[in-house]
Amino acid sequence: MARHYANQGATLGLVARRGEVLQTLSAELATECASYALDVRDDDALEKAAQDFMARFGVPDIVIANAGVSRGTLTEHKEDVAAFKAVMEINVLGMVHTFQPFIAAMRQAGKGSLVGIASVAGIRGLPGAGAYSASKAAAISYLESLRVEMAPSGVHVTTIAPGYIRTPMTAVNTYKMPFLMDADVAAAMFAKAIENRRRFVVIPWQMGWMAWFMRLVPAFAWDWAMKKAPHKPRLDWDWL
Ligand SMILES: NC(=O)c1ccc[n+]([C@@H]2O[C@H](COP(=O)([O-])OP(=O)(O)OC[C@H]3O[C@@H](n4cnc5c(N)ncnc54)[C@H](OP(=O)(O)O)[C@@H]3O)[C@@H](O)[C@H]2O)c1
Repeated sequence: MARHYANQGATLGLVARRGEVLQTLSAELATECASYALDVRDDDALEKAAQDFMARFGVPDIVIANAGVSRGTLTEHKEDVAAFKAVMEINVLGMVHTFQPFIAAMRQAGKGSLVGIASVAGIRGLPGAGAYSASKAAAISYLESLRVEMAPSGVHVTTIAPGYIRTPMTAVNTYKMPFLMDADVAAAMFAKAIENRRRFVVIPWQMGWMAWFMRLVPAFAWDWAMKKAPHKPRLDWDWL
């Protein structure tokens, strides 16, 4: 997404924990770019970054809460409890921390878009991915609340629920991923949805149909369909 918006000449503020990755990316982008190496669990750090960005470049047109983590989790394993906490904190509270410092200024400007990256995994509970599915379901509901709250201000909220995208997050998956997209293709679709001020969009559209069907399936049929579903690898938890 950074590359997509940089190619359009946008001024960017980038956030991730790995400062060196941000440095390398910023150097590649032919646009003005501010980088903030921080953890989205740290609301004070995000507030400082947002104040710095707005002091230098003004109120942003678009704020995208995209930071997210995914690992397989099973409730029966004691060591996965920490993983549940981290996934919920990063994927849900990280989104709140990302938007919060911009809202007063965007409300005053009376325009702009807040964009949250959810997932099709948030539509129904996926076995072996309880933390991730729960975090994305929470993100979808949170973003819907925010959308209604912000509507009178002129600030729009877009929820994007992607299917599978070829990124480091999915590189560990050993199972078949239907409608897998390249990141640049997905980014262009995300940007179009943001530009068109979509409220909720599943990307790609084929996954949209799948999500629609997933919502309709009764619990007993879902249980049957998921009985043999592949699980996301649990891996190690060093990344916490
Ligand atoms: N790939 C897919 O198929 C897919 C499908 C549906 C939804 N999504 C969602 O799309 C978003 C991006 O995923 P991706 O596929 O690009 O995953 P990724 O390749 O693993 O990238 C995740 C990004 O989030 C950043 N991040 C993770 N934890 C963070 C934290 N605590 N603080 C700050 N930054 C953090 C990472 O940078 P650092 O590690 O340097 O912090 C990295 O830039 C996520 O919300 C994911 O859930 C992805």
